[in-house]
Amino acid sequence: MTASSGDDLPNRAAVRVEVLPWKKALNGAKPLRLAVFVQEQGIDESEEWDESDPVSWHALAFVGAQCVGTGRLLPEGKIGRMAVLKAFRRKGVGAAILKALMDEARKLGLPELRLSAQHQAIEFYRQFGFETEGEPHIEVGIPHQWMKRRDVNRG
Ligand SMILES: CC(C)(COP(=O)(O)OP(=O)(O)OC[C@H]1O[C@@H](n2cnc3c(N)ncnc32)[C@H](O)[C@@H]1OP(=O)(O)O)[C@@H](O)C(=O)NCCC(=O)NCCS
Repeated sequence: MTASSGDDLPNRAAVRVEVLPWKKALNGAKPLRLAVFVQEQGIDESEEWDESDPVSWHALAFVGAQCVGTGRLLPEGKIGRMAVLKAFRRKGVGAAILKALMDEARKLGLPELRLSAQHQAIEFYRQFGFETEGEPHIEVGIPHQWMKRRDVNRG
């Protein structure tokens, strides 16, 4: 099957999400995070991989057979590394990943979720009940804002 460029997809793509441990997710997650964070956003690759990857749950989103998005849930209830290939954005892929990670958090009994949002992603997270908290800060040279989702079981 040939890979889609994304442009040929309708506004809402048929997305399938799998939540996996790092050993099973890394073949899909690594190229995506390299494309989005390192190549597109210019983050140094040494900042991209950390000790949280092996202990996190990783969501991989597929359109057909193609892996087009990822995100992770740390054991303490932090969501991070949300990345969707540029051509597949605003088609519901990020929403499907975030919902899968929130479902996983519910299963794990985590009462609340936190994340450090890049400024341009704040409105995305707000759609899913995350509220800003505290002052903006800089991470990997990019302005970020802490956000919290208080009652994960609220649905
Ligand atoms: C943030 C990101 C993961 C969102 O993924 P996505 O697949 O584009 O998101 P969705 O299509 O599921 O969006 C769901 C809803 O969130 C909101 N939303 C998404 N992106 C938005 C944006 N840039 N600005 C404002 N609202 C946004 C919209 O309400 C959207 O619904 P709509 O398209 O019907 O209006 C994606 O833009 C991305 O990978 N960005 C680059 C990497 C990045 O910045 N990651 C976040 C690090 S904190």
